[in-house]
Amino acid sequence: MLDTARYHDATRRTAPVGLIDLAERTPWAQLDEAAFAFRHRLAEHPLFTLERLADLSSQVLDRPDISRAFRGADLQLPRAELKRRMRNSILGVENNGLWLSLHYLDEVDPAYERLFDQLMADIEDLAGVPVRERMHWGSMSVFMNAPGLQVPYHFDHETNFLMQIRGEKSVRLYPKGRATLCEEEIEDFYRSNALAGRYRDELAEAGTLFTLTPGVGVHHPPLAPHLIRNGREVSVSLAIYYVMSEMEYRARVYQVNFCMRKMGLHPRPPGESAWVDAAKERLIRALSMSHPRTHDEMLYSGIQRLMAPARMARALGRCVRGALHPASA
Ligand SMILES: [Fe+2]
Repeated sequence: MLDTARYHDATRRTAPVGLIDLAERTPWAQLDEAAFAFRHRLAEHPLFTLERLADLSSQVLDRPDISRAFRGADLQLPRAELKRRMRNSILGVENNGLWLSLHYLDEVDPAYERLFDQLMADIEDLAGVPVRERMHWGSMSVFMNAPGLQVPYHFDHETNFLMQIRGEKSVRLYPKGRATLCEEEIEDFYRSNALAGRYRDELAEAGTLFTLTPGVGVHHPPLAPHLIRNGREVSVSLAIYYVMSEMEYRARVYQVNFCMRKMGLHPRPPGESAWVDAAKERLIRALSMSHPRTHDEMLYSGIQRLMAPARMARALGRCVRGALHPASA
């Protein structure tokens, strides 16, 4: 089962160590509001050589949910074969044209868990916010990418810090949430569609362009759309991210709104009515797995159950007739 209590255990916390530049404090006033660059000391870090990451990949693929690393037909292969493929892909990333990722590093290896805690201590010191005390969940992922690849336009649920370790990457970041996205895009995202953002031509030169080289990182607020393009060499970058409870709450409201819109209703956006939001949040929470193994299961198991057609009709019918104001939730 996913252990979210460990972040709140003060006895396991380290003090700031300066893996992120603690002298450059000004941009951190923009945390969760706007994108900003910062400097870090993870370039050439021994935990992020391709050989070390190839070794780590075997532990990552022992986890129950590996659908973020492999998709489609690959998921039917025996786990030992997937591990062999991932290991070879990481070691051959210079020439194989692949975009590879390993997730939940801190949950599979104590060395990465310690690094996660040290980075969180630095973030707390810079932002002046006791993040670990307040966050609901957090983790870290590493991305290993062949030269020249581009990540499609998308946005993420988490507060994110993307740190370049090897190679170069350009990141174009747009203002968060409703400043760039419409309600339907956010609702679609929270039914578990990672590519719900709809790119428009006018975005080509909009937003802020950051160039990440080893030792440079960029902060993404939650729901801040972005485009990422690799430079001409292999890129290795680390993302550390977390979610606050209020973001989880809003996500559940958006999930109900997605289903209501599917039924031809016009749901109230989150934040317009506290009691309507509370009724929607309760509905999804009641449908969610009580013992999720991963954060994805925690966030999406409720909407997946609600989206079963018969259940959707019954639950939303009750919702609309009873707790919610008709057609305006
Ligand atoms: Fe992203």
